[in-house]
Amino acid sequence: MNFDRFLQEAALLEGLAWRKYRRRSARRRVEHRLMELGLDGFDAYLELLRSDPKETSGLADLMRVTVSRFFREREQWRILADKVLPELIAENIGVDVIRAWSAGCCGGEEPYTLAIVWLESIAPFHPGSAIEILASDIDEASLERACAASYDMGSLREVPPDTLAHYLTREKGHWSLAGEVKGLVRLERRNVMSDPLPAGMDLVLCRYLAFTYYRGERLHAATVRLWETLRPGGILMVGKKERLPGGASAFFDPWSGCDGFYRRKG
Ligand SMILES: C[S@@+](CC[C@H](N)C(=O)[O-])C[C@H]1O[C@@H](n2cnc3c(N)ncnc32)[C@H](O)[C@@H]1O
Repeated sequence: MNFDRFLQEAALLEGLAWRKYRRRSARRRVEHRLMELGLDGFDAYLELLRSDPKETSGLADLMRVTVSRFFREREQWRILADKVLPELIAENIGVDVIRAWSAGCCGGEEPYTLAIVWLESIAPFHPGSAIEILASDIDEASLERACAASYDMGSLREVPPDTLAHYLTREKGHWSLAGEVKGLVRLERRNVMSDPLPAGMDLVLCRYLAFTYYRGERLHAATVRLWETLRPGGILMVGKKERLPGGASAFFDPWSGCDGFYRRKG
């Protein structure tokens, strides 16, 4: 059995989808696991996975993709700045703080982009409002990168030049993020599927996680959890290319015809 076929079938056991991104890293991890277990091929490993739920629960770690970048899908951030955040502020009458959660924050690129959008496009026009950004990930190494907040050009290639010059400083081949941006983001290790959910979120970003990599019951459970964490009317932001599954229409409505934004039903 070849590697892709193996991972397609194995992933299904755990409600995951194999998308062939970062194929080489996944293959390296799977082969390392085969060695640890003393197995001689993908067939033998699939057989073991079918009979051992503990081994199956480790599949998500083997398949994990930890890639992100600042202003990924720039158009979405423009919509967030021009429409979503102003609307949330207008709705939160009497509440000065917008509560946001980046639920798979990787190396911090996503929540720090949100912080920059806030500082650039919202704060100057809404001096009475503030934002609290919780950023979490299951992956320790990613959180360490987020904490260090030092990036190479690959993850900064979509940042507008003026923004780059304003919020990042070049240091020994890397770019360091300004403290002003880091100060808006609180980093925590959390599994979006099993750890306690933050309550009453106005905005949740769950991009290129559940709606790309989950299937079946796992996907449904993730949809319900995201619904639970948002306040009624709160906004869910997913990747521009991601769509919520059919069953999610009981929980979310598409927001204003903009791809990648949904409003939590009441
Ligand atoms: C492909 S990256 C996407 C990062 C970012 N949201 C973006 O769109 O650029 C997926 C991230 O989700 C994290 N992740 C995967 N499963 C998770 C889980 N159950 N709970 C929290 N984070 C998870 C991974 O560690 C990874 O950092």
